[in-house]
Amino acid sequence: MADTLLNHVENPLREGLDEARTPDPCTIVIFGITGDLSDRKLGPALYNLAHDNLLPQPCTVVGVGRRDWDDDTLRKEMYENVKKFSRTGLNESIWKGFADSLFYVKTAWDDLEGYKRLAQRLGELDKQRDTHGNRLFYLAMPPFLYEEVISRLGQAGLQRSTSYTRIIIEKPFGRDLDSARELNRKIRQVYDEDQIYRIDHYLGKETVQNIAVFRFANAIFEPLWNRKYIDNVQITVAETVGVGTRGGYYDESGALRDIIQNHVLQVMTLVAMEPPVAWEADAVHDEKVKVLRSTRLIDPRDVAEYSVRGQYAAGSVEGEQVKGYLETDEVRPNSTTETYVALKLLIDNWRWAGVPFYLRTGKALPKRVTEVAVQFQKNPLPLFGPASEGLSGNSLILRIQPDEGITMRFNAKLPGQAIKLREVNMDFRYGTSFGVPTPEAYERLLLDAMLGDSKLFARDDEVEAAWALMTRFLEGWAQQGLTKLPQYPAGTWGPAEADDWIERDGRQWRRL
Ligand code: BG6
Repeated sequence: MADTLLNHVENPLREGLDEARTPDPCTIVIFGITGDLSDRKLGPALYNLAHDNLLPQPCTVVGVGRRDWDDDTLRKEMYENVKKFSRTGLNESIWKGFADSLFYVKTAWDDLEGYKRLAQRLGELDKQRDTHGNRLFYLAMPPFLYEEVISRLGQAGLQRSTSYTRIIIEKPFGRDLDSARELNRKIRQVYDEDQIYRIDHYLGKETVQNIAVFRFANAIFEPLWNRKYIDNVQITVAETVGVGTRGGYYDESGALRDIIQNHVLQVMTLVAMEPPVAWEADAVHDEKVKVLRSTRLIDPRDVAEYSVRGQYAAGSVEGEQVKGYLETDEVRPNSTTETYVALKLLIDNWRWAGVPFYLRTGKALPKRVTEVAVQFQKNPLPLFGPASEGLSGNSLILRIQPDEGITMRFNAKLPGQAIKLREVNMDFRYGTSFGVPTPEAYERLLLDAMLGDSKLFARDDEVEAAWALMTRFLEGWAQQGLTKLPQYPAGTWGPAEADDWIERDGRQWRRL
């Protein structure tokens, strides 16, 4: 009892979860249970929801895969993965209760009989465990399989049940505008839009959700949040990791598709959107779509003005030697897939006209950091003589990860007789202010999907509007036909071309 009460107070996911928001009993069906995402993220997230008393009672988890496993194999495998990847570690007695709710069904992806067996098994488990026919499917598998699996689910009658049926679809959702539209069309032949949850795990991050709270729950920032006071916005997702063992996937994808089209554009829309009429799914999606639709569609012939790409060469990151991208397993030796990209987007609306949004991401960079830097305009006149020279404008940094928090940078007088100025920080840190661990993004999103709250998922028109913007860049790069991309040694901040490119606008990248 004491434990339960403690969880209620200390668990940020639990806060605000009144009885009515506790999910109804349900079955979660994970396609691709033997894959990497399930190992590292989904299994541990579900276990941690159980750990925090947030799963409905009862809740059944059915893993679906092609391997010759049974319920016991799944339980053993997941035990090891939870031990390795769970943020709270593994508590044997909680595990025991959770493990009893795990089941495995084997099928080939194209075998309708397998899906019928799955339907039958779900029916049996539903009766045995009293989960009321509520079903949440999760496609955690290579995207080329989505259409096949979804159409088989429909043929096996798994698009409806006596209660709710929902389906979560992992990114990447399409690889350009046409394929995203086609995928939307195919899914909607089987499921209605209100059953479809397109996941972008960035939206489950506390700090990303806090962008809206920061903007709309505080009156002092909003008056400054526009073209009159802001010079530019820089959104950075820097990773120290290279592509590692994901060469095959990455070489077909690249930084624009892997990170910018989804995660970074989601962050951008939260930074740029107007206040929604309510904090509800459709109202929020409407505002985000408006941002994307106001963003200038570039002419592919101008792609060099709006973007710069790069690829990491051999180097060293955090003291470790890293081989060059082109030497990575499963990467084509003459590949022109970008591991670094920077874009300039212009949002042509009344709030943002003329304020560039610079978006950049890269693998094998010197530091792991995701942040939004809002750069304010400089003072109109230097009042303090030489001391004022070279001062930058104020900036507000929303630190998404790691070291989650918010920093305001402003100029202050150095103590002493003379007037000398220096930039200082005013800091908010999640760790020190709240002192509670932040839940993993997947925990939040799984819970929201069980609750039927799609606010933190992407709507069909949102995904298509994002692809419409990105496809112009892809077309432009194809027209450029470069046979080699600018290189940067692993462990440096991207190609020199990226610095020259932003300097042409009279600006610089924020040093991280
Ligand atoms: C995934 C990308 O969507 O996000 C990966 O496919 C990337 O390439 C990862 O490493 C980054 O996520 P996070 O939560 O570690 O910032």
